[in-house]
Amino acid sequence: MIALYPGSFDPLTYGHLDVIERAVRLFDCVVVAILTNPDKSPLFSTKERIDQIQKATAHLDRVEVDTFHGLTINFARQRGAQVLIRGLRAVSDFELELQMAQTNRTLAPEIETLFLSTSTVHSFLSSSLVKGIARLGGPVSHMVPSHIEVALSERYSVRGEI
Ligand code: PNS
Repeated sequence: MIALYPGSFDPLTYGHLDVIERAVRLFDCVVVAILTNPDKSPLFSTKERIDQIQKATAHLDRVEVDTFHGLTINFARQRGAQVLIRGLRAVSDFELELQMAQTNRTLAPEIETLFLSTSTVHSFLSSSLVKGIARLGGPVSHMVPSHIEVALSERYSVRGEI
């Protein structure tokens, strides 16, 4: 069975990686699907995020990295995925995630959303938080893989922000 793990991943954190590692134990294939949203200006380009995630998941078999735009359920159908994976960090995530899952079920009743709880050590983590700290020159080595830590530092120093 194929599972799709959709998200922005700008950038991937150890919380995301924890969800991917957990999902791989449950499914034949996990497709990490990066949303390319033309209305947003991410810190990292789609290509950069693909490379970052591929490197971070190189130790895992059965993980693919792909990109999509538009509705997640359309891409899930295109990839033959029957399950959408979403990570839950805390109760605060639940309301929006439940709404998304229920909306997606009305659009595609054949596709299930499966919530995986992130481990407690990563429950505070978000990509926005990581960017906020890195932009101020703070340490993020416990939040993201080292190659992403380097990429954050380079990106913010090029911008003259640190
Ligand atoms: O990492 P994120 O930003 O929390 O991921 C959110 C994402 C990409 C899963 C969500 O915004 C999404 O599925 N967007 C695609 C548009 C869509 O399918 N909307 C209907 C679901 S409510």
